[in-house]
Amino acid sequence: MNIVLGVTGGIAAYKAVLLARLFVEAGHELHVVPTENALRFVGAPTWEAISRNPVTTSVHDDVPEVRHVALGQRADLVVVAPATANTLAKMTVGIAEDLLGTTLLATQAPVLVAPAMHTEMWQHPSTQHNVAVLRGRGVHFIGPESGRLTGNDTGAGRMTEPQQIFDRAIELLSPDDLAGTRVLVTAGGTREPIDPVRFLGNRSSGRQGVEIAAEAVARGAEVTLIAANIEGALLSGLQHRVKIVSVGSAAELEVVVRAEASEAEVIVMAAAVADYRVAEVAQGKMRKEDREEDPVLRLVQNPDILRGLVDRRTDAQLIIGFAAETVESESEMLERGRRKLARKGCDMLAVNAVSWTTGFESDRNELLVLGAEGQLLSTTSGTKRETARALLDAVVAARSA
Ligand code: PMT
Repeated sequence: MNIVLGVTGGIAAYKAVLLARLFVEAGHELHVVPTENALRFVGAPTWEAISRNPVTTSVHDDVPEVRHVALGQRADLVVVAPATANTLAKMTVGIAEDLLGTTLLATQAPVLVAPAMHTEMWQHPSTQHNVAVLRGRGVHFIGPESGRLTGNDTGAGRMTEPQQIFDRAIELLSPDDLAGTRVLVTAGGTREPIDPVRFLGNRSSGRQGVEIAAEAVARGAEVTLIAANIEGALLSGLQHRVKIVSVGSAAELEVVVRAEASEAEVIVMAAAVADYRVAEVAQGKMRKEDREEDPVLRLVQNPDILRGLVDRRTDAQLIIGFAAETVESESEMLERGRRKLARKGCDMLAVNAVSWTTGFESDRNELLVLGAEGQLLSTTSGTKRETARALLDAVVAARSA
């Protein structure tokens, strides 16, 4: 998507660098349009390096390309972060004395504004009036938050954190095709205890499931994420938008899935669940010096949680399983996927190849989506957000069929 990031003259401009980076890393085409005052805080080379596009404040640069209106006309979304009281006032009256002003007047795209200023300025009747007028015109606002401001003062006026602005921006860019749908996602890898200090685990980081949860939220769903041993940093972007329940072992996952599933209309089982657990878990640490022979762990099968869901499925539910396979070719991937689909009986199966270097942990994935009859619905190779998007496109299509 084509995003314009307007940056205005406040200290929070330094945080907008991170916001710009989030847009670029997510694969969006980004044009940063700072004001002259913003450049006093963060210089043009920084914006050019991050956005990989030229940066100017002036309507007189690039005249043959009619840049003063072209950026706004081409934009899918305009974000202004930070937005000062001065900029809000200019937006309200439509002052177009620089490139940001003309861009905001020329755009038909949604506009998202993240104000940042001192509390007195935010609470001033002029600012509040301007915000009300802009809201009335359909401008979206996020924040400001209460917290530490530039000086020693604290209060309302702090710019919302970049990750939250980014999430809101992505929501505005996403279709609303899962609005109000209750979606349950499992993610991460279960850990089966051996003794109080050791476990049998797998390499799932939870990334793929987290991206499915994030994409579903962006498309308007009410999401519950059951997180099996996922690093806190991966979940931080979701915490305020998703109900997250943390679990450890397959047995714990099963209990929570059973409790949450009855409410869910779409269930995505992206977690890597251990097929086996240790038959007798030692209550104290297993010590080398306490034994003469090498230990042997006896394993017993865990229940198949996905199969259990399918057996109890209601008419209103769509259940999507995953298959992680080590394969030599795409045809083998398809064949193994179809066999797993038949065994599990779910409505859709997302098949990904895993190996020492693919599938697990990485930011990228390759996902084949099979329909209930084993028909190939889509093949996507890209970031885990892109594969999540393709999977949910298939879910939306199946629900409206
Ligand atoms: O987390 P990442 O690092 O991003 O990696 C993503 C992933 C590769 C882990 C993910 O995309 C994926 O493939 N998850 C499913 C892994 C898995 O357990 O596959 P499986 O083929 O062993 O299981 C098939 C299906 O049955 C899965 O939906 C699984 O959740 C479910 N299952 C498996 C065993 C069991 N006892 N109960 C289950 O419900």
